[in-house]
Amino acid sequence: MKDFKNDPRFAGIEPFKTKIWLSSPTMHGDEQKWVDEAIQTNWVSTVGENIDAIEKEVADYIGVKYAVALSCGTAALHLATRLAAEKLYGQARPDAGTLAGHRVFCSDTTFDASINPVAYEDGEAVFIDTEYDTWNMSPEALRKAFELYPEVRLVVVAHLYGTPGKMEEIKAICDEHDALIIEDAAESLGAKYRLNGRWVETGTLGGYNCISFNGNKIITGSAGGMFLTDSLEDANKVRKWSTQSREAAPWYQHEEIGYNYRMSNIIAGIVRGQLPYLEEHINQKRAIWERYEEGLKDLPVKMNPWDRENSIPNFWLSCMIINEDAMAPMVRGEQDYLYVSEPGKSSPQEILDAISAFGTEGRPIWKPMHMQPIYRTHAFITAEGNGRGKSNAYIEGTGADVGADIFRRGLCLPSDNKMTPEQQDRIIEIIHRCFR
Ligand SMILES: Cc1ncc(COP(=O)(O)O)c(C=O)c1O
Repeated sequence: MKDFKNDPRFAGIEPFKTKIWLSSPTMHGDEQKWVDEAIQTNWVSTVGENIDAIEKEVADYIGVKYAVALSCGTAALHLATRLAAEKLYGQARPDAGTLAGHRVFCSDTTFDASINPVAYEDGEAVFIDTEYDTWNMSPEALRKAFELYPEVRLVVVAHLYGTPGKMEEIKAICDEHDALIIEDAAESLGAKYRLNGRWVETGTLGGYNCISFNGNKIITGSAGGMFLTDSLEDANKVRKWSTQSREAAPWYQHEEIGYNYRMSNIIAGIVRGQLPYLEEHINQKRAIWERYEEGLKDLPVKMNPWDRENSIPNFWLSCMIINEDAMAPMVRGEQDYLYVSEPGKSSPQEILDAISAFGTEGRPIWKPMHMQPIYRTHAFITAEGNGRGKSNAYIEGTGADVGADIFRRGLCLPSDNKMTPEQQDRIIEIIHRCFR
């Protein structure tokens, strides 16, 4: 990494004394009360009042009938995937995944936990390119994917960085093709979306909906996640699977594969203490996003976009993207990178290095799944059709790969809700200096 502190472009900028995080937990005190109560009453287990209470409170907040508290968002996504797959393809043998021999359309620019459950269940993820308006699944690319793979019946959709995707279009396309939707709202708890004229929460937009309380999320239990549904049958199935699939017998009796995925009553206590502060956190995150937008407005960059008419993000992470003509050369290998500085230009890796040198944490945009070594052999569909093999000099067309482009030009900015406006101003100043 360059010696930014001795680079004359950054003269006069003081390093932060305490690190500014990308997004860290923010406790308020109520969490302690519920955790203490669980310990004092000896309910230190995967049953207890905190679990019952938080399931009801989250279901009421989101506007679904049932919430099932689980150990993490990934567990919720796994059971949601299994449930949807069973509905489509029937129960699998205990040694086989429910998606064996089936393709599933998946968001491409997301964290891999969204879509790994497809592989857990022996399915084959087909990645659907991203659009520029919300940085989420492109309905156009999804339509193309159904042309190429009309047999597909399951779609996994995530809302990146807390910004709802184009769900009305995506739902309409899925309805046309009789496909089920797994909604990954892990990053978007508290974000709102106007579906057919009615405002609803993310976490209600699929047939099988999931949220996360991971430590970096908008509210946290240190870990934890939930499966959300209006179906009592589905809620009960997930509850059963998450507690080792015990049958109603006096002994351990099993007719289905089980998992140990239930949330602990201690974690539920932390989430219970956090939920009343969700709106406060969203307001703080929104103020951060708006301060970046204002502070960076004279640079050749844009903030991560959202549909102002039909959505209200939770602003979990503020991100920016550098205009193409202001991109300084930058290349990335599998684990390393290289860039050069040019006057009036910069690159995500230079900005990330610069803010890191002064004591703050940013992050590259989530590397799209179709670019991940593990999924490189999987199909990738763009608005133009098959997105693989487009570097071939004999093929016409733009070869546009929106996810790769956002990954190349974008970055996640420090978005911690405990960051003060003065600290944020300093980060904004560092970013300005990168473009000098
Ligand atoms: C989009 C997305 N999906 C799923 C997850 C997994 O959630 P968890 O960490 O609670 O397992 C995360 C984050 O961790 C995420 O960002």
